Amino acid sequence: MGKYNFDEIVDRRGTSCIKHDSGMERKGRDDLLSMWVADMDFKMPAEVLDDIKKRVEHGIFGYTDPGDDYKAALRSWFHSRHGFEIEDEWNTITPSVVYAIATTIRALTREGDAVLVQQPVYYPFTEMVQLNHRKLVNNQLLYRNGHYEIDFDDFERKIIEEKVRLFILCSPHNPVGRVWSRDELTKMAQICRDNNVYVFADEIHADFIYSGFEHTSYMCLGEEFRDRLIIGTSPSKTFNIAGLQIANTIIPDADVRAAFRKENDAAGYSQCSAIGLVATTSAYTRGGAWVNELIPYLQGNLELVRTFLREKLPEVKLVEPEGTYLIWLDFSAVTDDHKKLEDLIVNKARLWLDPGIIFGRESALFERINIACPRAVVRQALEQLYDAMRKL
Ligand SMILES: Cc1ncc(COP(=O)(O)O)c(C=O)c1O
Repeated sequence: MGKYNFDEIVDRRGTSCIKHDSGMERKGRDDLLSMWVADMDFKMPAEVLDDIKKRVEHGIFGYTDPGDDYKAALRSWFHSRHGFEIEDEWNTITPSVVYAIATTIRALTREGDAVLVQQPVYYPFTEMVQLNHRKLVNNQLLYRNGHYEIDFDDFERKIIEEKVRLFILCSPHNPVGRVWSRDELTKMAQICRDNNVYVFADEIHADFIYSGFEHTSYMCLGEEFRDRLIIGTSPSKTFNIAGLQIANTIIPDADVRAAFRKENDAAGYSQCSAIGLVATTSAYTRGGAWVNELIPYLQGNLELVRTFLREKLPEVKLVEPEGTYLIWLDFSAVTDDHKKLEDLIVNKARLWLDPGIIFGRESALFERINIACPRAVVRQALEQLYDAMRKL
């Protein structure tokens, strides 16, 4: 038994959380077991909550900038967990990683410029490119024998032919769960460097790595790959604090950083959330033990999904994740119609998952399920799916 109780069921209803309180608005019903958006149903570490309570007691929450304790906490987390050094001036705080992606697009590309993504991918990547009137170029990931791989020939060809200016990399990858190897990352980095492509490496899931796999930060690929690099990271996933609105954007190159900051200023953003700062400082200083227990717990949830599907629903294929708490399920042996799949999931199984089609056209027969919740909830979801499928 560990120090933290991830089995505790916390009722989140009535907190205005989009995961559990927006069913009527978003799905037209409020009786669904919710496992869609990527936040967790676990309370943050008690140590961090204590630090927030102390800050709340102070009672004044005026304009706030990161202090030395914040900078030290950030340096220490990324040094000890991810093996790279951050110089204080490299970081710019923004409210979220998606905001940082949009800011990067506007700072480093012009309308009509080509921006490359790898679908199926976290859908705001696609949306940010399109909403900012850039040209979306897709290097579709290859799905082979239940495993996703990069089509490097297509990657290089499109970068050259489409004159790609910016590549938005998801590392580890949501939703396919790949933790890209150093070799894969280096190959992509070489192609990007040779063609002067900026790289936004979204590493928000980097703390969720399953045993047997190792995350390599783009920052660790070598000095020669840092000139056009923007790292997007945030404690929001790791410590379940997305509502506190802090993301760290790490840019080693001074010119790229200046361009990013100019665009950030133009958006009117300056000081960050005072409570977010306290939470981040505390989490990166005192939250390590909690994360060390959380990952094996998630691995236990994953094992439950794996065993259940193998024994009771073999037609639903688990795409084995190497990291992230987002599990990608292949329903192509169940139906060839994504509307019927959605009907099965929502109306029959009464589950709220993320339908594969939102991550890209070719993944319409997939569903993404978030297993960062107490194990009893994962079991309940699997039983609901099983009952619905038995009646097909
Ligand atoms: C790859 C990826 N990037 C960014 C985000 C969102 O982060 P933020 O709330 O900081 O924009 C998510 C959330 O699911 C994600 O999966």
